[in-house]
Amino acid sequence: MYARDRALRVLLVEDNPGDAHLIKRLLTKSSATKHALDAVDRLNAGIERCDQGSVDVVLLDLSLPDSLGIATVATMRAAVPRVPIIVLTGLNDLEVAVHAVREGAQDYLVKGTVTVDILERAMYYAIERKNLEDQLMQYSEHLEELVAQKTAELKRAERLAAIGQMAAMVGHDLRSPLQAILNTIHLEKKQVDKLEGHFAPSEAPEAQQLRDGLDKIKEQVAYMSSMVTDLLDFARTPSPKITRTSTEQLVNEALRRVVAPNNVVIEKKLDPSLPDLDVDPFLMRRALINIMSNALQAMPDGGTVCVMTKNNGQSASINVADTGMGIPRENIRKLFEPLFTTKSRGVGLGLAIVKSVIEAHGGTITVESDVGRGSKFCIALPLRS
Ligand SMILES: Nc1ncnc2c1ncn2[C@@H]1O[C@H](COP(=O)(O)OP(=O)(O)O)[C@@H](O)[C@H]1O
Ligand SMILES: [Mg+2]
Repeated sequence: MYARDRALRVLLVEDNPGDAHLIKRLLTKSSATKHALDAVDRLNAGIERCDQGSVDVVLLDLSLPDSLGIATVATMRAAVPRVPIIVLTGLNDLEVAVHAVREGAQDYLVKGTVTVDILERAMYYAIERKNLEDQLMQYSEHLEELVAQKTAELKRAERLAAIGQMAAMVGHDLRSPLQAILNTIHLEKKQVDKLEGHFAPSEAPEAQQLRDGLDKIKEQVAYMSSMVTDLLDFARTPSPKITRTSTEQLVNEALRRVVAPNNVVIEKKLDPSLPDLDVDPFLMRRALINIMSNALQAMPDGGTVCVMTKNNGQSASINVADTGMGIPRENIRKLFEPLFTTKSRGVGLGLAIVKSVIEAHGGTITVESDVGRGSKFCIALPLRS
């Protein structure tokens, strides 16, 4: 805000030396304050001066050697949008005045009719008006941004809902037949085992082939089954059934469910001061399993998975760090999007499920990663006070 008694830095853009002299005299007569007046005689020179900063207000003549008429206002406004402009011209024409204001001038004064009071007031008003205009502009730009952001959020929510519905349908329809296939394989393998003693020695390789075939089918069906579980988990909006749960138990159970190959070392650094958590143990275990499976899949040549818990007073953190391939920067923000996967046999729902589970508990999940060195997924959950 400009206090009325603050000296203004005025730039006069006027090519007529007589007129320039008059304005200078007028301003030196100014009542209480001494304004700093700078003068140039060309539009381009005026723009340059404004560009260098330290101009509070411009007094602009419309007929200059390098620009004529209303275009002078338009050019100056476009070049230095932040500086308030007062048109100061010999032409007393209301139509031109209105036009000048439409082009972005804050005021229009006619030479010869201007007194020091009028000029000074016009300058302060112009600055105030320009400030308000800028604020309004910023506000409306911000509103546009906000609308765009909300529209994007809405679209995303609609998309998620559609994926969710599809996931629920597919998951539901596939679940029973997959289970039936798994059961049948189990029985068929038992059948082969039972026949063991009845094979002629020459038939042994064929029996083995049969077993291997059944194992392969089982492996594939188990994979399909885990996809279906992901789909169903994703389709359900998690509504946690809160129970007091030991973090250690949670971590151990999750670790038991993921099968780590021999070349992977599992480390645990559990904070003994961490109290039991108020969480849904089933959902939280699911979230940890998803993070841990990703960690294992990120280390095809082995490495270390470290699970750390910590009591931060207000919150508990559960971090899972791996020494795997890491995540390229451009993928980081897509990780938690449903269906984002970089794996040939990935579904891309694991982390989307993790995020919705953690958020349903009032927590947050973040990730830090270094390509080639590993990743760390950090869960923070509020602790009861
Ligand atoms: N620990 C990790 N290390 C490297 N990349 C990871 C890790 N965890 C997740 N990612 C990346 O995030 C993607 C999405 O993970 P997720 O949602 O679990 O789906 P999926 O495992 O089916 O691909 C993965 O495809 C992978 O690119
Ligand atoms: Mg996964």
